[in-house]
Amino acid sequence: MSHTVTVEPLGREVEVADDQTILEACLRAGVWLPHSCTHGTCATCKVEVLDGDVDHGEASSFALMDFEREEGKTLTCCARPQTDVTIEADIDVDEELEIHPVEDFTGTIVELSDIAHDIKRLRIELDRDLHFNAGQYMRVIVPGTDGIDRTWSMANSPSENRIIEFQVRNVPGGVATDGWLFKDAALGDSVQLSGPYGRFVLRTWEEEKPVVMLGGGTGLAPLASMVKHALLDEAYDGHITLYAGGRTVADLYDVDVFRAMEEEYPDQFTFHPCVSAEEPPEGYRAGFVSTAMEEDFDKLTGYQGYMCGSPAMVEGCLKSFMSRRLFPRDIFHEDFFNEGDKQKGVGSPLIKR
Ligand SMILES: Cc1cc2nc3c(=O)[nH]c(=O)nc-3n(C[C@H](O)[C@H](O)[C@H](O)COP(=O)(O)OP(=O)(O)OC[C@H]3O[C@@H](n4cnc5c(N)ncnc54)[C@H](O)[C@@H]3O)c2cc1C
Ligand code: FES
Repeated sequence: MSHTVTVEPLGREVEVADDQTILEACLRAGVWLPHSCTHGTCATCKVEVLDGDVDHGEASSFALMDFEREEGKTLTCCARPQTDVTIEADIDVDEELEIHPVEDFTGTIVELSDIAHDIKRLRIELDRDLHFNAGQYMRVIVPGTDGIDRTWSMANSPSENRIIEFQVRNVPGGVATDGWLFKDAALGDSVQLSGPYGRFVLRTWEEEKPVVMLGGGTGLAPLASMVKHALLDEAYDGHITLYAGGRTVADLYDVDVFRAMEEEYPDQFTFHPCVSAEEPPEGYRAGFVSTAMEEDFDKLTGYQGYMCGSPAMVEGCLKSFMSRRLFPRDIFHEDFFNEGDKQKGVGSPLIKR
């Protein structure tokens, strides 16, 4: 059984099966709709239902409030049509952005290594090539669960299509991390995943605008993909300054990898590892990534700013970027929401989602 969803203002019709959300069906059909977390938390995918009925599913009551439900709004990442439906979405996709439809993949774990005291590098060989934009993520079905999935960002360049890399931090009590990846996962295990998802991508076509990136913890992962794509694939000629933050040196990873890139591309890339909870050794900066960035830049007008990490970290960095007069249209972020955030209703009123 399926229902037809008409997406305005595109006028495109998409068949949505009973077990699919509107977003899932559209992304698989190559019809791009705005989205970020795909788990009912961030509200980026909010649309107007012009006609027909939807079940709002798992939408957080913070991301989709009661009065909005009454006004006919829904979150496409959670909504399942109950009848044929017409929605109106705010589709502001850049023309230059190549859209890769979402597909299912089967993967095999080919590397699982400790790269910081609570972070693992997980490399998965896929059954066929994946095409994605630097900064995007996959949904991974957690083995041993009833189809629960979690989202992890690719840290590899999009030119590496067959083996993808995730960098994952352990979350105590977390289903996917504490309950599987840091417990039972092993080389050779099979994994089901789908993607690519997300709109946090490196705008390689805006080469006249230098880039500043702020990453907290494993928020470095999508930024690593962007940096590798820019430098190693020669996808972006402008300058990139990357700040990677952790509480202590033991929280940071791949410092040597970025230092090597800095040496190889001195005119194009600058790297600053930052520690906020201990005296920094030589070559490291003191404080948060945003503090170090503010020390280095008086004004960021004309730049592009990318930030990724916990919702609290992203909110702090947004204020820093704005204090340096970076235009909101040039600020891009990925918030690593988790299930706890969905219940708490995190998210800044400063951030347009
Ligand atoms: C777009 C995107 C990209 C991401 N990319 C990465 C990445 O590259 N690397 C990375 O490390 N992380 C990433 N994340 C975060 C990732 O998706 C997971 O949230 C994270 O790995 C934890 O998953 P988990 O299943 O272990 O924890 P969860 O099971 O989601 O639990 C997280 C926390 O919430 C608590 N919790 C769970 N359920 C409830 C509840 N009902 N009520 C209250 N509290 C609850 C748990 O106790 C735990 O403390 C990304 C998130 C997003 C949205
Ligand atoms: S993408 Fe739907 S709420 Fe985040």
